[in-house]
Amino acid sequence: MQKLLINGKQVLGGSISISGAKNAAVAILPAAILAGEKVAISNMPSITDTNLLLEILKALGAKVQKEGKNIVKIVPAGVNSTSPPFEMVKKMRASYYFMGSLVARFGRAEIPLPGGCNLGPRPIDQHLKGFSALGAEINQEHGTVTVKGKKLKGAHIYLDVVSVGATINIMLAATTAEGRTIIENAAKEPEIVDTANFLNALGAKIRGAGTDVIKIDGVKELGGAEHCIIPDRIEAGTFMFAAAATRGELTICDIIPKHLDPVIAKLREIGIQVDVGEESLHVCGQDSLSPVDIKTFPYPGFPTDLQPLAMVLLSTIPGTSLIKENVFDGRFKHVDELKRMGAKIKVEGRTAVIEGVEGFTGAPVKATDLRAGAALLVAGLIAEGETRLSGVEHIRRGYENIEKKFAQAGVELKCVER
Ligand code: EPZ
Repeated sequence: MQKLLINGKQVLGGSISISGAKNAAVAILPAAILAGEKVAISNMPSITDTNLLLEILKALGAKVQKEGKNIVKIVPAGVNSTSPPFEMVKKMRASYYFMGSLVARFGRAEIPLPGGCNLGPRPIDQHLKGFSALGAEINQEHGTVTVKGKKLKGAHIYLDVVSVGATINIMLAATTAEGRTIIENAAKEPEIVDTANFLNALGAKIRGAGTDVIKIDGVKELGGAEHCIIPDRIEAGTFMFAAAATRGELTICDIIPKHLDPVIAKLREIGIQVDVGEESLHVCGQDSLSPVDIKTFPYPGFPTDLQPLAMVLLSTIPGTSLIKENVFDGRFKHVDELKRMGAKIKVEGRTAVIEGVEGFTGAPVKATDLRAGAALLVAGLIAEGETRLSGVEHIRRGYENIEKKFAQAGVELKCVER
């Protein structure tokens, strides 16, 4: 089990470059199965989740070649199975995207039901509602979902819940369905747009991604493409909050600033200076900061994935701040760990009341998911004394070269096996 040893009172400085977006990559890799020819994907983050998906693609029969750290070439012609290895798929939720791409290409997919995780219940009823609307037959037994549908037909689907996963999965399945599919109340995240752009580069006919109505006209077959994954707005936001919490100064490069609008607005409301460039931004932590209220919402609202990071910053600001978690029912597992370091946070249902404190003290803490892990890492940087952070494997799922990136920002993290 890896642990990060974090010495406190460190301040971020200098500049770092952001990797490709995990939540686009984990959709685009399963989507590659739909390609009729070779695909080359660049700016691919080399993280546990993407490396596992590449292994699953290989296990299904695809030819996969990594060129350097961040370019992958995939020839999906050899895919000859509709049931990815159970042990691999169980390791990550986003493998449910193989349902949409396998049923679109082969008319069948057998995927283990994704486990719950530390964000509370995470059903996939909207994904299955979409597949059924397209004419697929759904069976669930022994913890596996089988989706069958040789000739999917376009349908008009109104999502009950704004869901990133369901929007993407239905888009994948509809790509080769007969006729037009309309997804209403669709999620609008940039990662959905990136996945739609990849599919359109293959020859799909998808319009409206990034709005709440997406239209997909089914096509018979798809070709190959080259695609560069968008930058990871959540990684960028993580470093924005880290710079602000340590009262440091950081330039964050290779981003799409527009994707960070809700984060920039909230940091400015708190009193942090944020200067925005073409493909970068500069964060300057100040001392006189104000407590604020934050409500998480689907894009373009404040991202739930940065809620734990915001909690750390707000804990360093005198006064009372509120965080309302509107997306997940139970995304406060990191609060108890932060309280072990001296945070003063009260959780009532989906609301956390945060009292600013003088400072944190280092302690042994455990990451319960990747964003909670990132938040505890930042808390360790501002604490007095050493923090020993376990559960580092969570962080490695979504943050590439975390030690190296923080080192570029002038901060030393030591990883030990224990
Ligand atoms: C995606 O998860 C992201 N993961 C999450 O990022 C992110 O927090 C989340 O979107 C919200 O932005 C990936 O993209 C791989 P949802 P997803 O479906 O698609 C409910 C990270 O840290 N819901 O938008 O699973 C659900 O329970 C991860 O990178 C249903 O009720 O999220 C939740 O309350 C964590 N039925 C809400 O919708 C469904 O069928 C939003 O979930 C699907 C979802």
